[in-house]
Amino acid sequence: MKVNEEIRFSNALKSIARDQGLKSYIQHSEDLYPIFMKGAKRFVAGETRREGLERVMSLSNEGYEVSLEYLGENTSKEEECILAKNEFRDIINDLGAAELKATVSFDLSHIGMMVSEELALCHLKVLAKEAAEHGIQLMISMEESTKTDQILSIYKNASTEYPNVGITLQAHLKRSDRDLEDLLKYPGRIRLVKGAYQEPKELYIPRSAELDERYIEFVTTCVQHQHPLSIATHDENILMKLKEKGLLDGSTVEVEMLDGVRPDLQASLKDSHIQTKVYVTYGSEWYLYLLHRIAEHPANIYSFISDIIERKHGDGSVASS
Ligand code: FDA
Repeated sequence: MKVNEEIRFSNALKSIARDQGLKSYIQHSEDLYPIFMKGAKRFVAGETRREGLERVMSLSNEGYEVSLEYLGENTSKEEECILAKNEFRDIINDLGAAELKATVSFDLSHIGMMVSEELALCHLKVLAKEAAEHGIQLMISMEESTKTDQILSIYKNASTEYPNVGITLQAHLKRSDRDLEDLLKYPGRIRLVKGAYQEPKELYIPRSAELDERYIEFVTTCVQHQHPLSIATHDENILMKLKEKGLLDGSTVEVEMLDGVRPDLQASLKDSHIQTKVYVTYGSEWYLYLLHRIAEHPANIYSFISDIIERKHGDGSVASS
C-alpha cells in the first residue's frame, strides 16, 4: 500500500473501531464472530481467564515479565462494572495462588468510570489492596483524550495510598509533557506509549520523527528521575537508540510489548538481558483491540486474512477452510 493509502486505511479503521453498531453486529453474528475471532487469536490469548493465565504461565516460563488484561471498556451499567471488577479480583487471586508476579492492566472505563468517578476509584482501591497483598502491580491504561483528566485524577487519588498502581501516558498528546512533570511526583510506574486513539488534530502529534524524539525525551526524563518506567513500544529504531544511550539498563526500566506484535524483537531484547514484559489480553471484547492492532500496522491485514482462511493440518500443510 502507498503511504497515503495506509494513513487513510488506518484512520478509517480507527473510526470504525468506535462503531458500536458494527461491533454488535459482528459479535452477535454466528457466522462472522468465529471468523473474526480466528483473526484476533494472533493478539488475544482467548476468551476465558484460563486461556489468559495459561499464556501468562507459558511466557513466564520463557523468562518474560507479563501483564494481563481482561478486555473491556466503556461499561455503562453498574452491575457490569461490578462483574468486571470481580473478574479482575479473580485474576489477582489466581495469579497470587500460582505465585505469579504479573501486572494486571485495565481501563478505568471498564470498572466504573462511565457510571461515576467514585465507583471507579472505589473499585480501583479494592483491587489495589488485594493486589498489594500478593505483591502484584496494577497498571491503568490511557483512553481517549476526553477522559484523560478524569483518569489522571482517579490515579492520583489512589496512587499515594497504593504505590503498586501505575499509569499509562500517551507521548502523542501535546499536553503530555506537563502531565509527565506532574506524574513524576507520584510513586506509581509510568507506562509510556505513543498513543492508539484517533484524536482531534489540534491535540496530538501524529507518527513522525518529532513524536519519536519526544518519546525518547520522555524516557530520558523518567530515567534521570529513576522513576519506574515501562517503555511500551515496538519501535525498533527508538529501542536501539535508547539501548545505545544506556537507557534500557537501569533496574527501574522495562520494555513492554503487546503479545503477538514483535515476538522476534521481544526475544532478542530478553536475550540481551533487558527486562522485557509481554502484554497478554483475553476476553470476548477483543473487537476494538484487534482493529487498533491492524490500524497501527496496516500490513497486519494480510496476516489477519491469512489467519482466517488458513488451517494448519497436523502434518504442517495449510488448507483453506
Ligand atoms: P509505531 O506505531 O510508530 O510503530 C513502530 C513500528 O513498530 C512499526 O513500524 C512496526 O514495525 C511495529 N509495529 C507497531 N505496531 C505494530 C503492530 N500492531 N503489528 C506489527 N508491527 C507493529 N495506547 C493507548 O492509547 N493507551 C494505552 O493504554 C496503551 N497501552 C499499551 C500498552 C502496551 C504494553 C503497548 C506496547 C502499547 C499500548 N498502547 C496503548 C498502544 C500504543 O499507543 C501504540 O498504538 C502501539 O504500541 C503502536 O505504537 P509503537 O510505539 O509500537 O510505534
